This record gives sequence, structure tokens and C-alpha cells, in this order.
Amino acid sequence: MEISFDRLRSFGEGALVVGVMDGGKLTDSASAMDQATGGAVSRALSASRFRGQAGHSLELLVPSGIKPTRLILAGLGKGEDFTTASAERLAASVVGRLHVGGEEALTFAIERPKKARLSEAELAAHLAFGAVLRSYRFDQYRSVREDERPTLRRVVISTSETSDARKLWGELSAIADGIFLARDLVNEPANVLHPEEFAQRTLELKKLGVSVEIFDVQAMQKLDMNALLGVGQGSAHESRMVVMHWDGRRGNKKKSDGAPLVFVGKGVCFDSGGLSLKPANSMTGMKGDMGGAAAVVGVMHALAARKARANVVGLVGLVENMPDGNAQRPNDIVKTMSGQTIEILNTDAEGRLVLADVLWYAQSRFKPRFMVDLATLTGAILIALGAEHAGLFSNDDELAKKIIKSGAKEGEPVWRLPLGDAYDQLVKSKIADMKNIGGPHAGSITAAQILQRFVNKVPWAHLDIAGVAWQDSEQKPLAPSWGTGWGVRILNRLVAEYSE
Ligand code: BES
Ligand code: MN
Ligand code: ZN
Repeated sequence: MEISFDRLRSFGEGALVVGVMDGGKLTDSASAMDQATGGAVSRALSASRFRGQAGHSLELLVPSGIKPTRLILAGLGKGEDFTTASAERLAASVVGRLHVGGEEALTFAIERPKKARLSEAELAAHLAFGAVLRSYRFDQYRSVREDERPTLRRVVISTSETSDARKLWGELSAIADGIFLARDLVNEPANVLHPEEFAQRTLELKKLGVSVEIFDVQAMQKLDMNALLGVGQGSAHESRMVVMHWDGRRGNKKKSDGAPLVFVGKGVCFDSGGLSLKPANSMTGMKGDMGGAAAVVGVMHALAARKARANVVGLVGLVENMPDGNAQRPNDIVKTMSGQTIEILNTDAEGRLVLADVLWYAQSRFKPRFMVDLATLTGAILIALGAEHAGLFSNDDELAKKIIKSGAKEGEPVWRLPLGDAYDQLVKSKIADMKNIGGPHAGSITAAQILQRFVNKVPWAHLDIAGVAWQDSEQKPLAPSWGTGWGVRILNRLVAEYSE
């Protein structure tokens, strides 16, 4: 989709979107359209219940007197409540309706509501962001019929602050690209995107200036990453770990601020459960069990593409959890890279095993300022929080606060859950340093307690994204596909909070 920013006074063919304030008051461009159409806008308003409520809209098809073939009256709600998120949702809902509707061009002529908590340029750039995020499709494996093909190609945003809007859009479009990459990875089926293929795809980041190192099984054996390797040993596909490094700091890189921010992603390309096999219904969707890794790759792409002035390392542990003659068994004991041993009681609790080694490796090599891991770790987080919040666990209140704030700003909200010694007791093993599952209760917390044993007291946060990485039924306005790309925005914002 082609995006442009322009100071427009007259509008051509295609769809035109103008704003109506809560209560039904027309914005300047809406009232200009009302005049040009001989009062069609006010007549439409009085003939319907639409009164400019946020999120509502009304469409006039081929109104006479003007060039646009469709006039969309978009509700802006109350001016003081209008934020960048409102702009994104507004644009997304318009695009959702028009994308395959026949129009090729779409123009937004939305004036900034008085008292709105954003600038004119922010309004314009975030309209573009919402439009683009909604335009995502994953059609590689479908024969798309002619009448289902997207028609919308050009989006013009009318704004008086064209140059600031273009500058902001430069950053947001880099983030959108990162989100699309994450969605692609989550949507890809596991017969295509196995660990080796996932690792190959990260090499694309080199073009943006990210350094990429791929660790094969041999390299990980040398490092003693036996917990990660144990998960992958029943698969026909070899395991991999990828380390991606973006250093966008310019000029004097002082030692003191040299410690990188580190992101770690769970990359289980398919989770069958292993010998503790999942039932058929729970196994569908497990191609998405690499959603954490996808978000980490996506944010590395975004940071590099927008040339973030930050020092960031992304690591992903890539495995396939399968049953087979070589597969890991219940009651096996593995020695992690850290030296701590884990008794495997359920081979389906595999994500924590992968992360145990990658987190340990990350802190020992990079001495990070903080580490954040993202993982589709537990079904229990869906029971607790559904698809509305990701679960947050942290050993550092300041980091937790910044993550909560970043998530709220970016429409990726998180909810903090507790950690504590009493929970830690639940993963004690009779025969090894710990077992890989707790009891029947507090499953998301006991999983996080296991991770905490591998962070070596580094400031750390864990995001359990099992409820938000993909969506089965309803679509989110800004995320039209199964894979949501959740995590790219919150991590990108977190980097900005810490480094820029
Ligand atoms: N990948 C799953 C968690 C999951 C479940 C993600 C549903 C998305 C939707 C994870 O590896 C897993 O199987 N966890 C088990 C842990 C249990 C065996 C202690 C679970 O949640 O049931
Ligand atoms: Mn599992
Ligand atoms: Zn899993």
C-alpha cells in the first residue's frame, strides 16, 4: 500500500474520509463536503443514528456534486479523548471495510480535534499506521479469486504538517514492517518454517545492518545447552539458536552505557507436546508456538530499519517438540548450561527448557542492562487473562513499570502477576535441582519461577504471550490475520524509553 502526505484542498476519485465530532458537529472538511453535496451530509446524519461517536461511521455512496465516489463520515468522539490509538483504529476500520471493496484510492481529510492529545503530524502518521497494519494479508497458500483481491492501493493523508508527518511515518513504517515480518513467521506452517528455515530467514536482517550468528546443534553441544537440545532431539529437524545484534549508537560509545538491552524469544516451531503428546484439539495452532521468537525478530527488524540509537541483542531458541524414538522421556534429567539439573516430568512443558539455556547464555555473554523474554509459555495464562493482556512477571519493579507503560501506550497491554519463594518451592524435585512442572495450580507462575532460576539476578521480565500471539475467532482491528505480531510494538517502545 502506497502512503503519501499532502496539503490537499480538493479531492479526487476514490473514498474520502471526513470527521464528525461526538454529538454530530461537523469538522471543517465535513462541512465543506456538506456544502458541495447540497446538504447530503447533514441529511444523512439526520436520517441515521450516527452522531460522531468514536469508532462509528456512516458511508455515502456516490454523492452528487463531488468527485469522491464514497464519502465516509468517521466518528471522532470527544476531542479530549482522541489519541494516536484512536487515529489508528479509525483508519484501520475504514481500511477493513474498503480493502477489497473496489476502491483503489482512499483519502483521509481528518482535522485534529481541539483538545486532542496529539499533534497534527502525529494524527496523520498514525492514520497511516492504522491503515497499513489493517492491510496485512497472508495469502501465499490460497488461490485468491479475482473478486477477493485487495483493490486499495493508494492512501493519501491530508495534513498541514507534511514534513513532520513524513518523518514520523518513516519510523512507524519501519515498525509496521517488523510487525508484518513477525506475523508472517507466526502464520507460516511448521512444515515450511522449521528451525533451520526460521534461522535462514533471520539472515535477511543483515541487509539492515544487524549482525546475525546462527548456532547449530554442534555449537550448542559445545556450550552445554542440553535443556534446549533435549527438547529438539525427537525431531527430524535440527535445533538452532540465533543471536542478532543491532548497535545503532553513534559517536562516543561510553563503557558505562554500553550494556545492551536483551530480548529472548521462545521459538518452538511446532509443539506436539513430545511424548507427553497433546490431544488433537490442543495441538492445532501449535505452529504458532514460536510467537515469542517472531516478535524478537520483528523488533530487531524495526529497530534496524528505523536506525534506533540503541544497543540491542535479540536471541531466539528454535526447536521442534516431537515424539520419536530419540525423543526425550518423562523422568529424564537434563543438565542445563548453567549447571543446574532439571527433571522432565512432562515433555509438553518444553518452552521453559529452551529458555533456561538461552537466558543463561544471554546473561553470561552480554551482561545485559536487562533481559525481557517473550514466550507462548502456558495455557494457564489464557485461563487467567484471556486475549486481552499478556502476563508479565519480573524481578525488577522499575523494569516492570516501564513495560506496563509501554504496553498501554502501544495497545499491547500487560498485567503483572506475582513471583515468590512459596511458588518457587512448587518446582522442587526429589531427584534433581528442579522439575519442569509445578502442581496443578498457578501454572503460569511456576513456569516463570523456573525461568527466574536462569537469569542470574539480572533485571529481567517475562511476558507470557500464549493468549495474544495468535487469535482464533475475533480479529483485533489492527491485526487482521491469525498471527498478530504481538510484542513488536511494546519492545520497540521499551527500547525508546531506555535509549532514545
Ligand atoms: N506452548 C504451550 C502453551 C500454550 C498453550 C500456548 C495453549 C498457546 C496456547 C506450552 O508449551 C505447553 O504445552 N504448556 C503446558 C504446560 C504444562 C504441561 C505444565 C500447558 O500450558 O498446558
Ligand atoms: Mn508444550
Ligand atoms: Zn510450547
